[in-house]
Amino acid sequence: MQERFTATRQLQHEQVARIGVFDSGVGGLTVLQEIYRQLPHESVLYFGDTARVPYGTRSAAEILRFTRETLDWMVQQRVKMAIMACNTSSALALETVQSEYDLPILGVILPGARAAARQGQRIGVIATPATVASNAYLRAIGEANPEARVWQVACPEFVPIIENNQIHEPHTLEIATEYLHPLLDRSIDTLVYGCTHYPHLEPIFRQFIPHMVRFIDPAVAVVTAAAKELNVLGIQSHSMAASTKFIVSGDPTQFTRIATQWLPTPPLVQQIILPPVTVS
Ligand code: DGL
Repeated sequence: MQERFTATRQLQHEQVARIGVFDSGVGGLTVLQEIYRQLPHESVLYFGDTARVPYGTRSAAEILRFTRETLDWMVQQRVKMAIMACNTSSALALETVQSEYDLPILGVILPGARAAARQGQRIGVIATPATVASNAYLRAIGEANPEARVWQVACPEFVPIIENNQIHEPHTLEIATEYLHPLLDRSIDTLVYGCTHYPHLEPIFRQFIPHMVRFIDPAVAVVTAAAKELNVLGIQSHSMAASTKFIVSGDPTQFTRIATQWLPTPPLVQQIILPPVTVS
């Protein structure tokens, strides 16, 4: 009887616990917005590793180390699930950490690739250099639809542009046109945002990408997958969501300034220094 009571309390505790969402910076806000839309009862702990952004030009070893540091900390914060709202970590670290932590951990690539494979035959993927080099999207789309043709382009300048709030400066349109040109030359019917920062550039892309090209934002699919997983585990929240906790490793003022444009209310942001990894 006592045991059943304790188990029920534990489950209730997990139901109201937060979902941990992390990215190198403001990219993960595209996933957060989807959580607000699809899972309005869930509370979120958002971490942006802004002291070390961009991830996309770093080595696999660095990305794995940063991911472990974030997950160690999120476990201490007692999150009930972690969503890697970062394609670069999902491509290079997800498989390893999924077997290291006793926590459901979801990445964006598989759900995003499956959504693209369902919708398109000529698929362009734009992503960070590390994600492109990993070929994670090529593999995942190929497995889901072997008939689909896939081309990918690395776009190293996009993340610094977004993190520095330069989206609407004229050179952004020029750079975007240059990056996308080889994909448009292939007459793609579908474009995958292979980096969670990139949907923030949609107003720019819309200026020159033909309307028949479908945009796939893996944020939508990963949150749908998270909803299913919470349901299966019986840990979905039925209470009112608490306000999102925003934590960054860099300057909180800078993050607040940029993030405010995509959030319903200006975020309250705190800074932390992540302790080094405890997993070897
Ligand atoms: N937004 C992340 C991604 O999806 C990281 C980008 C970066 O820091 O380079 O890959």
